[in-house]
Formats: sequence, structure tokens, C-alpha cells
Amino acid sequence: MKSFRLQLRFLVPLVLILAVAAYLALPLMDRLNLRWFARDLNMRGALVTNALSESIADALPEPRGRKLQALFNRALQDERLVAIGLCSTQGKLVRTTPNFPKDLSCARAEQIAAEPDPLLRIGGGPVHVGVHPVNAEAGRMGDLVLLQDLSFIERRSQDTRQYLIILIGSLGAVIALATVIVAQLSWRGWVSGTRALLRGEGLIRPLSGTAPELAPLAADLRARLRELEDEYRRSQGPEADWNPERLQSLLRTQFSGDQVIVVSNREPYIHERSGTGIVARRPASGLVTAVEPVMRACSGTWIAHGSGSADRDVVDSHDRVALPPGHSEYLLRRLWLTAEEEKGYYFGFANEGMWPLCHVAHVRPVFRESDWECYRAVNRRFADAVVQEARSEDPVVLVQDYHFALLPAMVREKLPRATILTFWHIPWPNPESFGICPWRREILQGMLGSTILGFHTRFHCKNFIETVDRYLEARIEHEHSTISFQGVSTFVESYPISIEWPTESETRHWLPVAESRRRVFERLHIPPGQRLAVGVDRFDYTKGILERVHAVERMLEKYPEWVGRFTLVQVAAPSRGELEEYRAFRERITQVTERINQRFSAPGGPVIRLLVEHYDHEAVNELYRAADVCLVTSLHDGMNLVCKEFVAARDDERGVLILSRFAGAARELPEALIVNPYHVEETADALHRALTMPEAEQRERMASLRTTVREFNVYRWAGRMLADAGRWRLRERIAARVQRHQTS
Ligand code: G6P
Repeated sequence: MKSFRLQLRFLVPLVLILAVAAYLALPLMDRLNLRWFARDLNMRGALVTNALSESIADALPEPRGRKLQALFNRALQDERLVAIGLCSTQGKLVRTTPNFPKDLSCARAEQIAAEPDPLLRIGGGPVHVGVHPVNAEAGRMGDLVLLQDLSFIERRSQDTRQYLIILIGSLGAVIALATVIVAQLSWRGWVSGTRALLRGEGLIRPLSGTAPELAPLAADLRARLRELEDEYRRSQGPEADWNPERLQSLLRTQFSGDQVIVVSNREPYIHERSGTGIVARRPASGLVTAVEPVMRACSGTWIAHGSGSADRDVVDSHDRVALPPGHSEYLLRRLWLTAEEEKGYYFGFANEGMWPLCHVAHVRPVFRESDWECYRAVNRRFADAVVQEARSEDPVVLVQDYHFALLPAMVREKLPRATILTFWHIPWPNPESFGICPWRREILQGMLGSTILGFHTRFHCKNFIETVDRYLEARIEHEHSTISFQGVSTFVESYPISIEWPTESETRHWLPVAESRRRVFERLHIPPGQRLAVGVDRFDYTKGILERVHAVERMLEKYPEWVGRFTLVQVAAPSRGELEEYRAFRERITQVTERINQRFSAPGGPVIRLLVEHYDHEAVNELYRAADVCLVTSLHDGMNLVCKEFVAARDDERGVLILSRFAGAARELPEALIVNPYHVEETADALHRALTMPEAEQRERMASLRTTVREFNVYRWAGRMLADAGRWRLRERIAARVQRHQTS
């Protein structure tokens, strides 16, 4: 309908132009015809006069003029000749045929004959007037005035006019028809071409030659698209507004609701047998804390290792279970690993090799060939599970962490159109440190199967790019932070991970801070009036727990007024206990803690409460709300979410955060007291300062920290990655078309 209207806009002016053309052309044609015929008649007249000249010369001397009359009558038998007059050399009419106009003198005839249209009307019809000299042997005898009938010209003109009208009409019809057909085809071509451009495939047609007229428009359209995208982003509101709904809407708009598949080693819920039946427990894992809310918002499927004692009891025949328990917002597909696989892939290569390698926490990485084989095989198993779970050829696959460095390339091999976002939750070391790994090239190649490779900080991105530069033949564009390797381009970017900011429906159930404090103190038998610091970590050597207890010891030495008035509650969730390094670390901490507790024993109970147990989210939250200080002293940490959880828990804007400068979070949370955990003295001073910090300063710092964490929440983390992936996908498609065009 739209195209028909457009065509009408062209056809109506066309008809008008043709009508005007006909209107102007027809009289012009008549005049031209007339002139051509007048010229013919002049020539004809000259011929007739020549033919008659000698006879006229003979007949002229005869006084009664009969001979001349007979001559003229014979000549008049030519149906075109209407009348003849003979003018003397003095310009006098000496003889005429009967129908020669009475009022036509020789002078007047000459005047008319000299005009461009030598015409005269006799009896309503046009007559051509020609004056031709009569030259005989004896010399010039005078002039012959020949009047020739021109009415046949009018008849011919009529015919010509008809032909011309038919010609213009037919021409108009042909042009109109051709226009309609071409317009229809072009319109469809334009519409589909433009649609393709808008979808990001726009260069397929122009560059392959089907719609080359779109090629010059492509750049403009893309620029406009980017502007629209920016406008859209602005219209979506400030950065502060990232929430599940906005993430969902981004998925809908950028990925047309494509399926989201998450792959991680650790599962979001572990089902375990307990005395009361099966319980679902949330594991102590920053990864799970961050990714679970994103998954709840996006739905989809999460593939992870089923490690709980009752995990097999709750899955369906496809090893799937709907989560969270009782809400069914996404599916967890569990993969079962044999003890051998778990030993080689998880404990061995991932946690004895990659973990210490990336953390540079003075624990030597161990690389065994058999672990590597296992790691490769398990990565392949998870990659196959991704392909099995994929319902389309271009799902969005979110690969999590160092357990799956090889998986992105494996998935890319089977699903070349998948959008693979790999997030590395731990630090990335410098090229020299990474060079220790015997399979460094394979690991880098595996990771470069990703569309986007995310780290927490720019510093880790830089380390990664330099590592690739050192060990692979890849094309690196530092300006755009991209790496092209074996036909796949990967965008390397920093995306600081975060937590889900507590919703109002959650905070409504929180007990007041004073009440939380009372309950915690009562449960742990801490005398009221004591100052409380908390630490909440996995029992891991990277967390700086040893340095932390040493700092407590030093503070009590340096500021003895705190002895008997201060307690550190250290929750240490058991982790990777199969590994010797972890067991030794746990023993060491236990011994040092006992020693410090003995050294500073006072009526208030032990100064350090080491709770080696799993605390669920509610219990941890209560502890945060009860505390005066939260200690995060990681020796090296990708981000660390404990500090963000502490900030989110303190809606009273009190409490002080002490944060290691070696945790990624230190870059985002400068209002914390930033310390070097290796410098025990500095941490001890910071602890004293925190315990003596005036309330106003606490409030000022905490309010600012809360604004940051609320704004830079986990939906923003996922949203930024997905938005970049959407843009990247679009750019990649366009670049591929351009390249194809250039090589064709
Ligand atoms: C770190 C890792 C996660 C891991 C978590 C707990 O945060 O980045 O991938 O899940 O530690 O470790 P675990 O070995 O118990 O899963």
C-alpha cells in the first residue's frame, strides 16, 4: 500500500508532463509541417513555371489571350493548383484564371510569398501563394503567381496529430508500467536491504551486488543506529537503574530473547542429605553469589558439576532440576564427574595449577600431565553438554572461571555462531608468571574462542593481552582491546563483578542493627560492650587470614587498651579440603589463633573466634550488621564480594571496612581503609583507627560506599557484558561482510 502511494506520487506528475508536452508539441508540429510543405510547393511552383515559361512566351503576343487562357486551364487540371495569375515585368496583373482572387494584386502576392508562412485563405481553405519568374529564351516575361491548395496539409496534420497522441499516450503507458514494476522491485529490495542493514546484515546484499545502491547508505545507517542506541541507553536511565527488569529488557532487545546457558564448575545449590532429609545449600563462592541473581533474571540453563551427596536424588531423567528451590526460575543441568575426573580436573589442574598460578600468593603451582589430560577431557564433556542443551545455533553462553579455559574454543567449534562470554573471576598474572604453565598456548587458544573475555580490572586485561602477545601469533589491536586469532575475534574488557543490591522485600525482614548485634553476641558468648570485627572467607591461603590474625595480635600489642574489649569473629568456610596445601593452611591458622588467644586471654573470652563452618546468607548478613569493622585482607583477589556484601548490609550507615589493596574491589571502594595486608603494622593501625573512628566519619564513608555498590551492582556487570556482546556481534557481522566483499 505504501509503495503504491509512492508510485502514485510519481505517476500523476508523469501524466501531467505528458499532457503538457502533447499540448505544446501539436501546434509546433502543425507549423513545422506547413513550412516543409510550403517549401515543397515553392519548388513545385518553380518547376511548373519553368515548364510553362516557353509556352507563356509563345502565347503572350496573341492579343486576345486565348492561347494563354488555354495554357492556364490545362495547368489547372493539376488538382493542387487552384488559380494562376501572370504579372507583367512592371508588376501588373495581365492574365488570371477565373478563381484568382480579385483583391490579390501582384505586389500583395509577392509580399505574401516572402513570408515564412505564405498562406492565403480562399473559401475557408488554406492556399499557398508562390511567385515565380517566367524566364523564356527572349528574356524575362514577368512573374507567375501560383495559388496551390493546402487543405491536404490540414488532413495530414490531423493524421499526424492522431499518431502523435497515440505515440505519447503509449509512451506514457510504457514508462508508467516500467516505473511501477521497477518501483515495486526496488521498494522491496530497499525495504529488505534496509531491514537487513538494521539487523546488522545490511551489507550482505549490497556487497554481493544484489542491491549496490544501499552500499553508500550503510555507513550512514550504521552511524544512525549507533546514535539511536546511545539515545536508547540514555532513555533507559542512569547507570544507577540496573535491575533484573532492565537486564531482561536488554536480553530481549539485543538478543531477541536468545537462550542463555551458564557453565561453571560450582553449582548454585548443593543438595545434601541431613538428619532431617534433603537440604539445598548455597555454596561459599563469589562466583555463585554473583551469577545466581543474573540467572534468575535471565532464566535459561546452568550447567555445573553435581557435587552434593543428594544431588542425584532431586534431578529428572535428563539430570535437570528447577531452581531456586520452590521458585523454578531457571534449570540446573548437573554433570557427574568420577572421583578420578574430579581429582585430575578440579583438585589437580584447576586448584593446584591454575589457582596458585593466577593468584601469585607464594604457593607453587603444580602441573601434572595426568591432571592436564583430565582437565581437557572434562572441558570437552562440559562443552558437549552446552551443545546438547543449546536450542538454537546462536545461544548466549556464559562461561565462568579458570575451570573452563579450553571450553570456549570447543563450543565455538560446534556452534560457530554462539555468543560466548567468558568471565575470569580470578586475577590474570603477568606473562612471565603465566609462562610457568607448560600448556600456556593451549589455554590461551581455548580462551580465545570467546566473543568477549572479561576480567575484573583493566590491569588483568592488560596482563592477558601481553601474555597472548608473548606466546601466540595473534593480531592484537590495543586501541580496541581486541585479539584476532584463527578467524575469531575476541574483545577483552574489564567488568567489575558485584552483588545483587538487597531489595526492599528482603530488607523489610532484617532485624534492627542493635537486635542483630545482641543476637550475635549472645550466640557467640561475647560480652556486651565489646568491639567486634568480622572476617568472612573461604578457608583459602589467598584470603590473607594469617596476615589478618597477625594484625590483630600486633594491634593488641601496640594498643593494649583493646585487650579484653575486642573480638575478631573469623568465619572460614571449609574449602578444597582434599588438598594438602589447604589442610596445612588450616592447621597453621588454627595454631596461630590458639597461640594469640592464649597470649591475650581475658575475661571477655578468646579474642579470635575461628568458626570453620558454612554460614548461610542470612547468618552472614546478621554478622555483618552486628560488626563494628569488616576485615578483607586478601593477598590477591579478582574482586572479593565480601566487602560489597558488608556495605550492602549496613543500611544504618555505620561500620568500617578495611580492605586489601590487592583485591579488585579496592579500585571501586576507595572510601574503605585501604591496607597492604603484607604490612602487618599498617593493618594493625588501620584496625585501631577503625575502632576509634567517629560516627560521623563512618557514616560519610559508608554512605559513599553504599552509593557505589548500589549503582555498580551485578545486573550492571551482566548488562554491560551482554550489551557489549550485542554490539560486538553486530560489528563482527558487518566487518565480515566488508571483508568478504573486498576479497570477492
Ligand atoms: C573462587 C572461584 C570460584 C569458586 C569459588 C569457590 O571464587 O573464582 O570459581 O567457585 O572460589 O571455590 P570452590 O572450589 O569451592 O568452588
